[in-house]
Amino acid sequence: MAFEITSEQEMIRLMARDFARKELEPMAAAWEHQGIFPMDAIKKMGELGLLGMMVPPELGGSGAGAVAYSLALQEIAYACASSAVTMSVANLSTEPLLKFGSPEQKEKWLVGLAEGALLGAFALTEPGAGSDPGSMATTAVLRKDKYIINGTKVFITHGQYADIINLIARTGQERGTKGLSAFIIEKGMPGFTIGTKEDKMGLRASNTVELVFEDCEVPAKNLLGNPGEGFKVAMLALDSGRIGIASQAVGIARAALAEAITYTEQRRQFGKTINSFQAIQFMIADAATQIEAASWLTLAAADRKDRGLKFTKEASMAKLYASETANKAAYMALQVHGGYGYTKEYKVERLYRDARATTIYEGTSEVQRIVIAREVIKT
Ligand code: CAA
Repeated sequence: MAFEITSEQEMIRLMARDFARKELEPMAAAWEHQGIFPMDAIKKMGELGLLGMMVPPELGGSGAGAVAYSLALQEIAYACASSAVTMSVANLSTEPLLKFGSPEQKEKWLVGLAEGALLGAFALTEPGAGSDPGSMATTAVLRKDKYIINGTKVFITHGQYADIINLIARTGQERGTKGLSAFIIEKGMPGFTIGTKEDKMGLRASNTVELVFEDCEVPAKNLLGNPGEGFKVAMLALDSGRIGIASQAVGIARAALAEAITYTEQRRQFGKTINSFQAIQFMIADAATQIEAASWLTLAAADRKDRGLKFTKEASMAKLYASETANKAAYMALQVHGGYGYTKEYKVERLYRDARATTIYEGTSEVQRIVIAREVIKT
């Protein structure tokens, strides 16, 4: 297998790194502690082309591709994991329009999303339908030229700030994954309101809310793809989303490792710096090895996407391994900080909390294993 990062991809990584270190890193702790959604920084990310990286230039995107996207997202996550999940979900929200949108829908919404003028969200999960979205209860009933939507979506990343939302709802009588359809919901549509804002353990500078639909009237022309294709729309979007979360996890893990290296070369106990003890060295060696493996798994999935190959299994493997790695790296980094790591004064405390979500959202580690097992066992 020949795989090399091109000079263009490296330039994009460096651009994202420069932006992240200057504009995100200095503020990340304060935003996170105070629960501030950094709208201005997100707008700048849009201007830099970071919110439409897999959309071709003729549709307003940077056309940089999934490998460049992963490299850039890793850099954003290294500085601010909350901004990274915003970037990941914004890019995810371009996928349904890119793959299923009509030319008019692309012109109306995709260009704005890709250019960063609009912020997009993705609404699949419900209070009673998390790992099993086929059990969703939200309905969309066609009346003349409008769908009437009723139901509640939960855990919607930046739902409060999104201009448009990719919504999956039940349009047919069929049960399970059949009979679901995808829609574009626009901010301010009558009958659509923002519900509870989640008070989360980590990623507190990312906004997570409930969306409530009460007889919300949506024009029939906002249907994405064909009626009944909603589950496929969601799964294809999540395949890409999982590359994003894997990249976020690699960035968090790298930040944790960097904190561990810096602290252990300064901290002295028993008359020497603690990085001279083999116990500490082995922890750092294990984390560095796992991060390298996670990074390559993620880039391999992204490379398959760029080459137009199926990447469902590879994205799930990357998401599973990178998210577990981020948690292990953050645990290790906090452990080597001792009591200081348990205080809010040190970055590792935030990384530990931020890492935790990565094994849960966009499919738990257990869901990733279902996807991988199905793909591996059938071949
Ligand atoms: N691409 C295209 N089609 C796919 C697909 C994919 N990756 N995965 C499944 N499908 C198709 C199947 O081929 C099948 O098609 P047919 O009916 O034509 O045969 C259909 O979809 C149903 O598939 P399954 O039988 O595999 O469905 P399932 O009910 O067994 O579910 C699952 C499989 C993998 C568990 C899936 O439900 C899943 O991924 N669950 C987790 C959902 C998830 O990640 N939620 C997170 C939401 S977003 C979020 O976290 C918030 C945020 O904003 C960050």
